[in-house]
Amino acid sequence: MQTVLSGIRPTGNLHLGNYFGAVKNFVKMQENNNCYFFIADYHSLTTHPKPEDLQENVRKVLSEYIACGLDPEKSTIYIQSDMPQVAELYLLLGMNAYVGELERTTTFKEKVRKQPENVNAGLLTYAVLMAADILIHNAHKVPVGKDQEQHLEMTRKFAQRFNRIYEVDYFNIPEPYNFGEKLVKVPGLDGSGKMGKSEGNAISLIDEPKVIRKKVMKAVTDAGPAEQNSTKPEPVQNLFSLMELVSNKDTISYFNDKYNACEIRYGDLKKQLAEDIIVFTTPIRERILDIYNNSEYLNKIMKIGKEKAIESGSKTISEVRKIIGFKPF
Ligand code: TYM
Repeated sequence: MQTVLSGIRPTGNLHLGNYFGAVKNFVKMQENNNCYFFIADYHSLTTHPKPEDLQENVRKVLSEYIACGLDPEKSTIYIQSDMPQVAELYLLLGMNAYVGELERTTTFKEKVRKQPENVNAGLLTYAVLMAADILIHNAHKVPVGKDQEQHLEMTRKFAQRFNRIYEVDYFNIPEPYNFGEKLVKVPGLDGSGKMGKSEGNAISLIDEPKVIRKKVMKAVTDAGPAEQNSTKPEPVQNLFSLMELVSNKDTISYFNDKYNACEIRYGDLKKQLAEDIIVFTTPIRERILDIYNNSEYLNKIMKIGKEKAIESGSKTISEVRKIIGFKPF
């Protein structure tokens, strides 16, 4: 049986990008694999959350996960900071991670550019902690979105390096996974780039219908095609890509035909897209609210997840310590 792992930072509500990039695939995999899904609260410390917000964010994301179909009976669902073994593996892997390669990571370079006032060491070593998350359970497959591909590549590198230095075949070399297809990048509503929590271009699963309608109606488009059958510019293609995720085939081909005939009315397309998103998110939103209000259930899930995660993490750490040469006198 293969081990599958994925995670998410508790820094805002789950959005369509998180769902279609990672959570959906994970849910499909939990039937036939040994699955771990965790909330990356150590990682979220790079953004310096207030102590009173940290716990609340974790609770929110945990409710959202479960509402999306993660099943605590089938998967181990846990909070990263509940398994301190991951912090030890992060320390150990960090000894063989080089500053140059960490500085060259795209996400790090982007943070340096976007927030020069807060370039902390946690951001620099973000990929090492992520590698520790994955290797602590010796995962084979990691369902993630396209934006995490480079981090996964670094995890593979760190795992191979460890095996080579210590002349062992200990760590599996984990693969980013999307059922044999390319990793997904869900676009945002602002015309370019990916949907993201901090970009202000996202539709959250918890958004009320009126919020969804407002966001979609404000999405960036253009003046419309000047020639029949022309290639769609990025902002327009993005709306079609979102339709591919939530609308049925007939709707998509209707609007494609209209576009190709230069008869498209973006207002109509947006109205339809908003309604299709609402149909998709409404049952999830209702489940989130039910679960969020059930503290007893959430506490039980966290307790069971913590025990199972620690059992697996402790085994890995004691084996890694032995390989490295920490032995009692
Ligand atoms: P995070 O919290 O930014 O996102 C969680 C998951 O959602 C995916 N995702 C997307 N996929 C497609 N299109 C989008 N627009 C989009 N936005 C987000 C992400 O690819 C991710 O799979 N570093 C990770 C959390 C993490 C992790 C790990 C993941 C920490 N350790 C170990 C896997 C394995 C992150 O910040 O994801």
